[in-house]
Amino acid sequence: MKQKKYTIILGIVALFGLIQFIRPERNQQTNPSRYDIFHKTDTDGRLVALVQSACYDCHSNRTSYPWYASVAPVSWMISSHVKDGKKNLNFSEWILYPEDKKLHKLEEIIEVLEAGEMPPKPYQWLHQEAKLSVEQKNEVVAWANHLLEKRP
Ligand code: HEC
Repeated sequence: MKQKKYTIILGIVALFGLIQFIRPERNQQTNPSRYDIFHKTDTDGRLVALVQSACYDCHSNRTSYPWYASVAPVSWMISSHVKDGKKNLNFSEWILYPEDKKLHKLEEIIEVLEAGEMPPKPYQWLHQEAKLSVEQKNEVVAWANHLLEKRP
């Protein structure tokens, strides 16, 4: 009986070791993007830092990975969130978006912030620096509104 239990535990440990070899590609563009929404911007640096720390891990070409992001299967989950996040909105490629897409994305940004949907809750638990206070959230909404008004 005992023998069987050890075999199972050993199997789980071996499997955990094996899955570590499946490493998803990392989202880490090294050069700053020329197409970034804040490229050559006159936006207040504090606002830039706010959006970057709250949104850029999933909505840009550069994620900053915590140590546990190297451990499978967490690494797989993070990789899939980043892929989904970037597909919906990529601040690093903003300048390449057509005008109507920019408008639509700005409206969505305001929506998700007002509904408190972004950054996602589990992410906020792990990243206190990404938590937006009510004032900070209002600042980001005001910035998005300002960009909307600048459009024709
Ligand atoms: C932990 C990763 C993560 C972070 C951080 C994050 N997002 Fe997202 N976001 C996602 C994912 C994944 C999706 C696509 C799936 C979904 O709609 O839930 C998404 C979708 C969106 C969408 C499209 C929503 C829609 O209606 O389709 C917007 C807009 C958005 N995020 C804005 C933001 C903003 C603004 C921030 C920063 C304040 C932010 N996100 C931070 C992961 C993230």
